[in-house]
Amino acid sequence: MLNELNQSNDIIKIVASNPLKTSCEYRKIVLQPMLLREEEYFQAELFKGTQVIHKNISAIKLSEWAENNLEGKYKQILVSLRNKDVTYLYSKGKTTRLVQSVAERKPILRANNRKKEYILNEGDYIPAMFDLGIFTKDAKVVAGMYDKFKQINRFVETVDDLLKNYDTNSSLTLLDFGCGKSYLTFIIYHYLTNIRHIQAKIIGYDLKTDVVEQCNVLARKYGYENLHFVVADVSKDVLYNEKIDVVVSLHACDTATDYALNFAIKHQVHYIFSVPCCQHEVNSDISQGDGDIGVLLKYGIVKERVSALLTDTIRAMLLEDAGYKVDVMEFVDFSHSPKNIMLRCVKKGRSKPHNAPKIRALMEKYHFNQTLYRLLYE
Ligand SMILES: C[S@@+](CC[C@H](N)C(=O)[O-])C[C@H]1O[C@@H](n2cnc3c(N)ncnc32)[C@H](O)[C@@H]1O
Repeated sequence: MLNELNQSNDIIKIVASNPLKTSCEYRKIVLQPMLLREEEYFQAELFKGTQVIHKNISAIKLSEWAENNLEGKYKQILVSLRNKDVTYLYSKGKTTRLVQSVAERKPILRANNRKKEYILNEGDYIPAMFDLGIFTKDAKVVAGMYDKFKQINRFVETVDDLLKNYDTNSSLTLLDFGCGKSYLTFIIYHYLTNIRHIQAKIIGYDLKTDVVEQCNVLARKYGYENLHFVVADVSKDVLYNEKIDVVVSLHACDTATDYALNFAIKHQVHYIFSVPCCQHEVNSDISQGDGDIGVLLKYGIVKERVSALLTDTIRAMLLEDAGYKVDVMEFVDFSHSPKNIMLRCVKKGRSKPHNAPKIRALMEKYHFNQTLYRLLYE
């Protein structure tokens, strides 16, 4: 029993080394206090071969965690406190406890102590932020990556609005359509598993083989066992087909967004968070006709924007028909990204094709097609 763990405010560091058994999963474990969203945690670095896996353990659960993961597993456990080092040596069933006084020192909390504005903050230790080039080595946002940082943060915040009370005893499966380099996918995995402690399984889909391969390498490096990336064309390949709780898409190109939404509707996915990207389909077909909005199609740049807004309106209306409560929201300021509309949807009821006839009439009047409509009704 490591009695000192009850004084978690005084702990500077814990190091467990020299596994007692060859079957021990980690060759060394280091724990240090840190602040995460103003709560005190211990960050565990778990050394396995050449890998270092990170886990956050709530300060109140530290003793219980140590009992299950440290005690009886390592020959040496060093607990460094403010004014002393306590070393436990285990050998042949005997425990020796050595105490050495040291000059007073203070725990260095790695995340800063200011009032947190975001879910992700400069100073937080999130491995993917470093490897994907969003954070510098000292956990500051890289100049030039601030817009991406802001987008991911806002995306996760909107997810948090709906999932913060998710039952941690239930598992959650999330699919990310057009994940690309997967900044968002890694951060959502971190958010769900390390911050919300939800048993999450995440699959990211993208067309690009090299990018998907690289993301899988990183997921393995962090020990993210339930995060996988798959090369797939979401418009035609067979995707994961078991129970899915959440679908996300962030700037999935053009009609890839429609395939994500269609998939979510057909699989009765409870939550959808979708930020559409470039939208060429309606813009390339639509023609003035003799209707009221004809005047908005006269000038190229205006036509392009009207077409994009029309596309998102149609998507939102079709999602409502499919029984979703839909929030059409500005997810970041226009200055961070002009593609800044999010469709945030929660499945509430049954399908009622109330809007579909109006959409059909609009498509006929202005001579355009829309992929989500086609996938659902043709
Ligand atoms: C603009 S990137 C966005 C990447 C990522 N979601 C982000 O926000 O950083 C769009 C991604 O969608 C992928 N994509 C486009 N069409 C796709 C399709 N039919 N199936 C799978 N991925 C697709 C592209 O390969 C690209 O990586």
